[in-house]
Amino acid sequence: MKSYALTSDGGGTGKTTIGAGLIKAHQLAGKRVLAIDIDKQTAGLTAHYGLKHCRDADLSLLDFMAKDRYADGRDLTEVIRTVEVEEVGGEKMGIDIIPSHNSYRRMQPRIDSNEHKDVRSHPHKQLRRVLAESNIHEHYDVLVIDSPASSEMAMDNAVFAARNILVPAELSPKGDDSMDGMLDLIRDLRSAWEFNLSILGVVPNKMKGMNINNDIQEKLERNDLTVAPATFRNLQSMFYNSWKEGVSVFKYIEDVKEYPADRETDQLEEFEKLERFVWNRLNGMAPEEAVEAANIDRAENPVVKV
Ligand SMILES: Nc1ncnc2c1ncn2[C@@H]1O[C@H](COP(=O)(O)OP(=O)(O)O)[C@@H](O)[C@H]1O
Ligand SMILES: [Mg+2]
Repeated sequence: MKSYALTSDGGGTGKTTIGAGLIKAHQLAGKRVLAIDIDKQTAGLTAHYGLKHCRDADLSLLDFMAKDRYADGRDLTEVIRTVEVEEVGGEKMGIDIIPSHNSYRRMQPRIDSNEHKDVRSHPHKQLRRVLAESNIHEHYDVLVIDSPASSEMAMDNAVFAARNILVPAELSPKGDDSMDGMLDLIRDLRSAWEFNLSILGVVPNKMKGMNINNDIQEKLERNDLTVAPATFRNLQSMFYNSWKEGVSVFKYIEDVKEYPADRETDQLEEFEKLERFVWNRLNGMAPEEAVEAANIDRAENPVVKV
């Protein structure tokens, strides 16, 4: 099982939106996906998949992370929910997700003052431990973790568990401040861990056009960051409305919206390209090579096979 976390400095860059589109694109490419929503925000993936009621379920991922007595002898699969199937392109697809939970608001104190010393002393390693102790690896090809903004315990756990991050960002020239914030975060993350953190790529989101300003491109390159070969436009009509309807962007464009505009339909291809790029990067392909491979048509594409 390959893993990555969607990460960014600050909220609203599109982690959850891009993550949900990618999850669907992974599924359409035949991969078995597990999603983890470790963000305490109430309007995240959990709500999108209609799982709000799970936010006060008896057992949560945090119970496992905190080695709560309540989780003793229980299996992580007990917190995995399979969401009802959505039909896209003639195929029925459910999604397996570990939803968010109200108790995440108290994640920090629960872990920091934990009765188990190993939990207290390694607060950021608990999600990785929980995943390693379960046998879910055998059941999924890819794990997508939607993490909260800014450095906090949930984000540290997501990054430490996944070891790979994908960074949605608003790269408009006037978003320079947010870009500096993103670079700071990446610098922090790169130096924080004893393992080699892989930054799969930066995903331009909420773009006015399809091209990135040269200065921004150069700034990213100087920081050894690759721009993913997919650009997402600022399209409220598509991203917000599909979200509101609780369907994937694929479902929304193919079935829900009666007359989608070309620029909306084109975005589905961007998700497919991004999916190929992410998958190839997760399988160890170098950034430039992964960009090139993702840009080639699916039929003749040297995508690493599942
Ligand atoms: N490309 C886009 N065009 C228009 N709106 C978008 C786009 N991407 C995200 N949004 C909207 O921006 C808001 C924040 O997105 P979200 O994915 O929740 O960000 P994050 O998870 O990083 O906080 C949501 O209302 C979402 O619908
Ligand atoms: Mg989010």
